[in-house]
Amino acid sequence: MAATWLKDTVFYEIYPQSFYDTNGDGIGDFQGIKEKLDYILSLGCNALWINPCFDSPFRDAGYDVRDYLKTAPRYGTNEDLYRLFEEAHRRGMHVLLDLVPGHTSEEHAWFQESRKEEPNAYSGRYIWTDSWFRGCRNMLYVSGEAPRDGTYMLNFFKCQPALNYGFLHPEESWQMPMDAPDALATREAMKDVMRFWLSHGCDGFRVDMADSLVKFDDEKKSGTTKIWQDIRRMLDREFPEAALVSEWGKPVQALNAGFDMDFYLNWTGNGYNCLMREYENHPGTDEDHSYFRRDSEHDISPFLKEYMARYLATRDRGYISLITCNHDTPRPAFHMDKEELKMAYAFLFTMPGVPFLYYGDEIGMRYRRLPTKEGGYTRTGSRTPMQWREGKNLGFSDGRPEDLYLPVDPSGDAPTVEKQEKDPDSLLQAVRSILTLRHTFPDLQADGLFEPVQAEAGRPFVYRRGSLICALNASGKEETVSVPGKRVFLLGRCEKDGDTWKMGPQSFAVFA
Ligand code: NOJ
Repeated sequence: MAATWLKDTVFYEIYPQSFYDTNGDGIGDFQGIKEKLDYILSLGCNALWINPCFDSPFRDAGYDVRDYLKTAPRYGTNEDLYRLFEEAHRRGMHVLLDLVPGHTSEEHAWFQESRKEEPNAYSGRYIWTDSWFRGCRNMLYVSGEAPRDGTYMLNFFKCQPALNYGFLHPEESWQMPMDAPDALATREAMKDVMRFWLSHGCDGFRVDMADSLVKFDDEKKSGTTKIWQDIRRMLDREFPEAALVSEWGKPVQALNAGFDMDFYLNWTGNGYNCLMREYENHPGTDEDHSYFRRDSEHDISPFLKEYMARYLATRDRGYISLITCNHDTPRPAFHMDKEELKMAYAFLFTMPGVPFLYYGDEIGMRYRRLPTKEGGYTRTGSRTPMQWREGKNLGFSDGRPEDLYLPVDPSGDAPTVEKQEKDPDSLLQAVRSILTLRHTFPDLQADGLFEPVQAEAGRPFVYRRGSLICALNASGKEETVSVPGKRVFLLGRCEKDGDTWKMGPQSFAVFA
């Protein structure tokens, strides 16, 4: 059973580097997040996921953790983070930190010990072969870098050696079984990291690459699943309301492993990708077939086909998390305009499960092509500073523009919170009204039943949420839908016409 507080939760993802800088060094900080909690709450988001904010050399934006138990000084001290938890809790909000269990930075003290020639307590903390000349099968590995006679496996970038959780079917002498003392020690160490932050007030974790703790032949992820089920038992005993959301992308597996929520990630050609980013082969061109483009030719069935199977298989066990975007994904405004985004968000925020809004998507911040920063590469364009108001650095920082983590959007019409607060027709106000609607009707929240009513007869999509009916016309043309009941919410235009409703281009309505 998922943590009970998730039933009416909407998350706001914060990339801390770029959210709000209060000390003028050009990088966001905990104090900045604290000062913006009321703003986040005013949107209707009542929980945060903060990307890694731990001590790190930042070769992968903090996903290369050097010390799991210490915050990165550029964001503030551990005490500052504890105070942020308190401030959030005072407002009824929850906070997830980002747990990176699959690898550390090569600068982590565990790895510094592990790479030594003399055997020690950390020799088995990472995956090493038994000779400088032997590689790690089809996995990336590094040789010739350590005094130790062996090569070590990588989990992502070169700076991220893979932690050792053992092998499901060890085949070679250097592969340990999952219950070997060293493999169990890694698992226990990760439990201690979780205990540390949970006992200081954090409410759970987003878990990085959660599906790949066990390497090679982890059939149907059964080894990795066992580890998470064991971790879940510890949480159920010690922190029963802690919530976990996985970067897994297969909710049937992830929820079975003990996660409360699993992200529906943007993978080329999958159901989620068809909604807002179906341009993989033609980025930056007009050849975008996403359902939420007004001139799209397809209905929503490519999404539903995949989603329904997942939803039906998991609805009693936890949640699928639909996202507007994340720090690895092109922002939705890359290819969609304000009206298109309103429809996409109306849909995402009235679906079951627990939705996530990526900072800045509420104002339609753009994706920008920028030189790489902290291992971001093409992801860098989705990580630029939040645009708060007109004027210096768009209100992100009082520092010198050349010191900013990344440059702010230089366009004269860069969207800002300040402008959109004043405009009743803005994307920001639409997000607010949809999230207010979600919080008003329990049927629209995480557990309310979902059932498509009209999906394959052209562009309109009509769906039931409990006792409510939602009708969405994502197209640029007027469409007719047949829906019973009284209209209780409207974005755009929707007029009664005898027994049917005429829905204006890009309109969304809810009926009770
Ligand atoms: C997934 C994270 O979302 C991404 O940003 C990171 O680079 C990799 N995992 C490696 O930790």
